[in-house]
Amino acid sequence: KNLVLLISGRGSNLQSILQAEREQGWGVCVRGVISNRADAAGLDVARAFGVPTQVIAHADFPNREAFDGALGDAIAALEPDVVALCGFMRVLGAAFVDRFAGRLVNIHPSLLPAFTGLRTHARALEEGVKWHGATVHLVSGALDHGPILAQAAVPVLDGDTVETLAARVLLEEHRIYPHAVRALLEGRVQIDGLRTRIRPSSD
Ligand code: GRF
Repeated sequence: KNLVLLISGRGSNLQSILQAEREQGWGVCVRGVISNRADAAGLDVARAFGVPTQVIAHADFPNREAFDGALGDAIAALEPDVVALCGFMRVLGAAFVDRFAGRLVNIHPSLLPAFTGLRTHARALEEGVKWHGATVHLVSGALDHGPILAQAAVPVLDGDTVETLAARVLLEEHRIYPHAVRALLEGRVQIDGLRTRIRPSSD
């Protein structure tokens, strides 16, 4: 099976997946990491793992359709079974999502369907929720919507700031994302509408 990962920045989720794949021996081929920004620190993470990298800069294209088309062609050339968005900060259009339907997975830093979009940690603090977290979901047409594969909750503590809350959530992201990506790659995900079930791995 082939895995392709998309990043825009730091790449800590990318690192958690590459590390799990290496340590657990998933037996997959990590075909490439693609960034829409040339200065993404995650490109160095990919190189450190010996994974081929590409930059397809959204700024080089006249509109979203052109960017999505070029990005989609680059991904398709890598023949992915799963495309994992790891802090990829561009909204992908419907044609792109359709092209990779069922193979496109994202991690979002909130307990969806709460707090779609940006600034999730700040908004969770503003709303005074007592629990916050992260969600791994298949990408469907609607932003931050689609069948949920995994979620993890963390408590919001007295005195939390955006930074302390984000760090607590990020630890959980690094735990649940590799697990969900592996299950998708191994065909262990059953989907019924928005409801999913992950069968345990045999090992
Ligand atoms: C993570 O919080 C992820 O949930 C969100 O963007 C952030 C990316 O962090 N979509 P990293 O680049 O994986 O370190």
